[in-house]
Amino acid sequence: MKKVFAMMLTATMSLSLAACGNSGQSTASATSPAATNPPAESSAQAPTPAPASGKSANDKLVVGFAQIGQESGWRDAETNDIQWYAARATDTVELHFADAQQKQENQIKAIRSFIEMGVDVIAFPPVVETGWEAVLTECQEAGIPVILVDRGIDANTDDSLYTTMIASDHVWAGEQAAIAMNDLLGGSGVVVELEGTVGASAAVQRKQGFDEYIAANCSGIEIVASQTGDFTRAQGKEVMESFLKTYDKIDGVFCHNDDMALGAIEAIKEAGLKPGEDIKIVGVDGVKGAFEAILAGEMNCTVECTPILANQIFDTAAKLKAGESVDKWIMSADEVYTADRVTADVVDGRAY
Ligand code: AHR
Repeated sequence: MKKVFAMMLTATMSLSLAACGNSGQSTASATSPAATNPPAESSAQAPTPAPASGKSANDKLVVGFAQIGQESGWRDAETNDIQWYAARATDTVELHFADAQQKQENQIKAIRSFIEMGVDVIAFPPVVETGWEAVLTECQEAGIPVILVDRGIDANTDDSLYTTMIASDHVWAGEQAAIAMNDLLGGSGVVVELEGTVGASAAVQRKQGFDEYIAANCSGIEIVASQTGDFTRAQGKEVMESFLKTYDKIDGVFCHNDDMALGAIEAIKEAGLKPGEDIKIVGVDGVKGAFEAILAGEMNCTVECTPILANQIFDTAAKLKAGESVDKWIMSADEVYTADRVTADVVDGRAY
């Protein structure tokens, strides 16, 4: 059955935690049960968008969020964090949430519907890097600031079309994964790569960081294959199965996210090999499932990419509604988790 798009969830519940300014332009400073955000780092200042004409006189901060879908546990954690925040800030925040079911066209439709509604701010993680000019221009013409969340858009796109990006540094993540893999393999070995969604900045940049670091610094490591597993556990498993059939010897696998790493672990076990020992596994995200696998000795490292972004998204949106300037890139401060860092306490402390 054809899936029905645009499951809009408008959060209108009330919250005692809300710390609303008298103009209604500040959001609650709620803290997610999953984690708190690290302090933001940044580079250039983004231009302050012009006040929108014809927008609603709603005292609340009205945010439209066009989520990609539900491809990974990480994505679910991000969605939960945003919805958790909004559910506790209904005195000050009105969230319109759409699930685009992995389709760019659905994200674009959702963004257009947010423009139509006259929301104060639009936020979304671009499923792929390209193809956003038209809809971002419409946002700009409507005077609605746009926050890119967790993924960016193509560097050739005019960056004045969005106001700010709240995201991890995916190139850095790829480099850290390469450093970890090189250490795990003692400087030599055969490596395969499970890529994320084709054309997604998180995949493009993690690959760039990993491949370039290996090429420049690890002459004993050969990347023999690299194929997309679309950031899902099922496809990660499938692609790893095919790698295991094709190559007699694989020493390491770099997975662009932890869900694919968990799928790869299943494939490696089913092939009669020991994940984490016979084949070293490095992932990205830092979700609880990966921590558990590391603690069990079945995975070796994960580079964090925090999905806990709601505080930053709503705080930034409130600033934009108030006409304040914000940094062009509000960068998450992530950490690298090698096995020596992943204790039972660390696993227990991970809420997602
Ligand atoms: O854009 C962030 C990436 O998207 C996460 O690493 C991945 O798990 C998700 O699907």
